[in-house]
Amino acid sequence: SPSDPDLVERARAAKAKLGDKVFVLGHHYQRDEVIQFADVTGDSFKLARDAAARPQAEYIVFCGVHFMAESADILTGDDQKVVLPDLAAGCSMADMATAEQVAECWDVLTEAGIAEQVVPVSYMNSSADIKAFTGKHGGTICTSSNAKRALDWAFQQGEKVLFLPDQHLGRNTAVRDMGMSLEDCVVYNPHKPNGGLTAEELRGAKMILWRGHCSVHGRFSLDSVNEVRERIPGVNVLVHPECRHEVVAAADHVGSTEYIIKTLEAAPAGSKWAIGTELNLVRRLANRFASEDKEIVFLDRTVCFCSTMNRIDLPHLVWALESLAEGTLVNRIEVDKETEAFAKLALERMLALP
Ligand code: 13P
Ligand code: SF4
Repeated sequence: SPSDPDLVERARAAKAKLGDKVFVLGHHYQRDEVIQFADVTGDSFKLARDAAARPQAEYIVFCGVHFMAESADILTGDDQKVVLPDLAAGCSMADMATAEQVAECWDVLTEAGIAEQVVPVSYMNSSADIKAFTGKHGGTICTSSNAKRALDWAFQQGEKVLFLPDQHLGRNTAVRDMGMSLEDCVVYNPHKPNGGLTAEELRGAKMILWRGHCSVHGRFSLDSVNEVRERIPGVNVLVHPECRHEVVAAADHVGSTEYIIKTLEAAPAGSKWAIGTELNLVRRLANRFASEDKEIVFLDRTVCFCSTMNRIDLPHLVWALESLAEGTLVNRIEVDKETEAFAKLALERMLALP
């Protein structure tokens, strides 16, 4: 939808008034009306790295979801304040692993006698508590752009990985990039006693996958891939690794949002692409590349926006920027010191991956 000109003007004025005091980060899944005000756009990895790149900015306005704002707070200085324009912008996947559930899982692994061999690897899409658990137990964070490197590192530290909370990214990386088999992976269900697994099954597994998923990417199906191939002969199917394994296995290319953009930039004129990721990004790319004669379609028209990403809209951004410009700090995301220390350890291991 076209942005309201009055709101655009107000956002511009508030941003100009704040000058270098504010740094606006925007994830690729944000709405166009919001992304136009981002100083930097990126995937989860790039935004985590860039959050720390402006130490002089007093306010980091994070246009993305809660776990990203938490990560930015962990990685920035104590005097920098991270603001999330709508506090209801969470992530259903991150909510699928709570600190209590993960502590219970660790007890199950201890009972099975394998905890010492297990290295936790947690997807960026997790709460600060889960990141702290990961840091405390010698593990690392990963994003969709460095999951293979994170797993390579983890398997140098131990024999098994507990992958949290996205089973699909964990399985896709293990099978597609690491040459493991589906039988090397088991799924730990936090809603069942002992995760629904026997000690035998846990001892036999290389990858213990948490039973979490993205509610948006989980809706792309093998049928979506087959239908688009039939509808558009010669189409290249490019999907995010949060998609289910059979979708990733049937796709031509798989990667993070940043990878998807780079791939389309490098694609020749006349090429055709079906993209399986969040709709705001796909629409923006379709518009951007239409003039270069690259046909870009959404992999499955029945899949909708990420509703929590979409909570950050122009009215919320204007409200946050105007409040800050008037000297009122709103919607600050602040991780407590103890959680921060261990979560930072895990995030820094990720940033140091070769
Ligand atoms: P990336 O931008 O790292 O690919 O992550 C996608 C995502 O789902 C973020 O919530
Ligand atoms: Fe979470 Fe999926 Fe939305 Fe990303 S797209 S924020 S993983 S629900």
